[in-house]
Amino acid sequence: MPAPFTASATATKGKGRAGRVPRVPTVFEKGVNMRILTIVCLAGLTSALALPAAADIAAGKAKADMACAVCHGAQGIATLPNAPNLAGQPQIYLAEQLKNYRSGKRTHEVMGVIAKPLTDQEIENMSAWYASLQMELRESK
Ligand code: HEC
Repeated sequence: MPAPFTASATATKGKGRAGRVPRVPTVFEKGVNMRILTIVCLAGLTSALALPAAADIAAGKAKADMACAVCHGAQGIATLPNAPNLAGQPQIYLAEQLKNYRSGKRTHEVMGVIAKPLTDQEIENMSAWYASLQMELRESK
């Protein structure tokens, strides 16, 4: 992409150092600046969306053992036919679903009641615990 540089080089040619006028950034340079700006914005956004405090997986497991395992299984593989598996789901997804049940944005008569008293920290801890479980998938023959 040499064109913009060629143009600015031509502009200063012959005038020598003294006659040099401040260069207006070329379109190409503006493009680079925009890209840097975008990266900076994305970085800011990511930190704005960051989880409250570092999630405590052990605390999440302890809470889930007591409150969730009866339906979602001790390791996040559901024991009830109508309950979803939570093992290996992304932490962000699980936390969002729990917050949606808590706020009523997602409604379910059981999960709504269960999610109601959960704190943000408990939600992050349990989501981190389920997200930390790794599954191995095999195709059936
Ligand atoms: C009495 C059984 C039961 C218990 C206990 C229970 N759940 Fe659930 N959970 C369900 C059912 C049934 C659904 C499906 C609800 C729906 O259709 O929206 C569900 C859905 C969810 C979902 C959404 C999953 C998805 O794929 O969208 C999450 C997350 C979840 N439960 C987390 C928990 C956590 C964390 C606990 C413990 C604090 C818990 N559940 C306790 C029955 C239960």
